[in-house]
Amino acid sequence: AASPVIAPSILAADFARLAEEARAVEDAADWLHVDVMDNHFVPNLTIGLPVVQSLRAATSLPFDVHLMIEDPRRWAPGYADAGAYNVTFHAEASDNPVSLAKDLRAAGAKAGLAIDRDTPIEPYLELLPSFDTLLIMTIKAGFGGQKFIPAMLDKVALARRHANAGHLELRIEVDGGIADDTIAQAAEAGADAFVAGTAVYSAQDPAEAVHRLRRLAEK
Ligand code: DX5
Ligand code: ZN
Repeated sequence: AASPVIAPSILAADFARLAEEARAVEDAADWLHVDVMDNHFVPNLTIGLPVVQSLRAATSLPFDVHLMIEDPRRWAPGYADAGAYNVTFHAEASDNPVSLAKDLRAAGAKAGLAIDRDTPIEPYLELLPSFDTLLIMTIKAGFGGQKFIPAMLDKVALARRHANAGHLELRIEVDGGIADDTIAQAAEAGADAFVAGTAVYSAQDPAEAVHRLRRLAEK
């Protein structure tokens, strides 16, 4: 696995101060994780394209957009056009993930495939050459602040073996319950990108929390 990417999730930030909250981790983090929810794919509603477009100008951090929405074909390319670095959509919501990944790459973004808690990854392994990022949920998608599910690390390990055997250039990202006490096991299993919402934005010093997570992931 490559050197770790730490991606604070603004889902745990103060939505009235998104620009400041992004800047608070700008020098410490690698990506800014942006959770888009539509109250259909998951039972929660967050932000959409207009907020991402406005926030894009407020920070130099690359945006890691996590679409928890139905019909990603309709919306995902707009996030690439808005300047997202990586656009991840859910396998469960897509009938042709490879074709959408191609469109995202053509629009200048990295393409990510997300796998929710109850979805096995085996059927998706053969699609991975079309993707830059595989996001493995370590909770059930929909809400921040949930408890990390260690059994999800079997998926991470399987994906890592598959990626290494195939010499794929693939970031394997974990999302949900990543904190000081869980990040090392995720790294050990083969993850090399780490989303952290609560662990970063509930901390007294968000930047210091990012540095600490990075040190724990590097061990
Ligand atoms: C939840 C989101 C996560 C969320 C993680 O569905 O995908 O990115 O922000 O929050 P924590 O780190 O608090 O589990
Ligand atoms: Zn997320």
